[in-house]
Amino acid sequence: MDQTAIENVEAGLFLEALHQRHGYDFRNYSRASMLRRLRRLAEKTGAPSLSAMIPSVLHDRAFLPEVVDALSVNVSEMFRDPGFFRVLREEVVPYLRTFPFVKIWHAGCSRGEEVYSLAIVLREEGFYERCTIFATDLNPVVLEQAKAGIFPVEAVRLHTANYQMAGGRAAFSDYYHASYGSVIMDSSLRQNVTFAPHNLATDGVFGEMHLVLCRNVLIYFDRTLQERVLALLADSLTHGGILALGGKESLGGQRARDTFAEFDRKWRVYKKVDPASAQAHRRAGPDGAPGEGA
Ligand SMILES: C[S@@+](CC[C@H](N)C(=O)[O-])C[C@H]1O[C@@H](n2cnc3c(N)ncnc32)[C@H](O)[C@@H]1O
Repeated sequence: MDQTAIENVEAGLFLEALHQRHGYDFRNYSRASMLRRLRRLAEKTGAPSLSAMIPSVLHDRAFLPEVVDALSVNVSEMFRDPGFFRVLREEVVPYLRTFPFVKIWHAGCSRGEEVYSLAIVLREEGFYERCTIFATDLNPVVLEQAKAGIFPVEAVRLHTANYQMAGGRAAFSDYYHASYGSVIMDSSLRQNVTFAPHNLATDGVFGEMHLVLCRNVLIYFDRTLQERVLALLADSLTHGGILALGGKESLGGQRARDTFAEFDRKWRVYKKVDPASAQAHRRAGPDGAPGEGA
């Protein structure tokens, strides 16, 4: 057995111990990137091997937050993929106006960058007051940061450029104030937001949502977990609800493809429909263009 094969066994045992002891289930995450993160954690904690961390995960409660933080990738930015936020503003919000009130779920919200970005769009479109927003993540450390709405001042240049490319109608600086090397987002942006822990691998549906954003999360999962989560997201949406995935993510299996029709192909935005309409939509192609069955 070579070193990588041994590490693979150790990773499996470590993740099993983490799951059985604390309920955090990373067993169906893409193994290559999980190995990289576990190696980094071992290096940081001075453990001589991945399996040497198993006693700590079983017996040392203080180790848990460090493990969860090390295993979840929390990279994000405000108005990430500005073109996507343009589609939200110009296509999704006008569509959502057809509902009397709107419930939105950000699944895997990280430090809240996407949540504050969408809140700004909704505010500028005069739609914020009709929305109730839930923002969840498995990592309690990033959720606390999201609630505080504090971001490093170094990121402001990028966030401002993204905001402008996303069709921002004001100055990005209208939405924050700077303080001691950080920027603090305007608290009115989270007036209708509830931040809460939720684990897509183990927790249940979030009922009757009109818009679900789960962007740049599925890429870390293996096929089995992706299928589970796509079913969970579908079941959390009301009929006609909108699902937004990340630019490198797709619907995958037949069940999801039978549940959704394309709303915006480029930015992976889908609308929940009944299976017969999903099939008809696929045959016709989006916007009536000839599709795969034509
Ligand atoms: C790369 S960030 C994406 C953040 C944001 N959605 C974006 O697109 O910029 C992925 C987030 O998903 C969260 N995550 C990973 N696995 C999760 C799970 N099983 N349940 C809930 N959140 C999860 C991570 O903690 C992290 O905050």
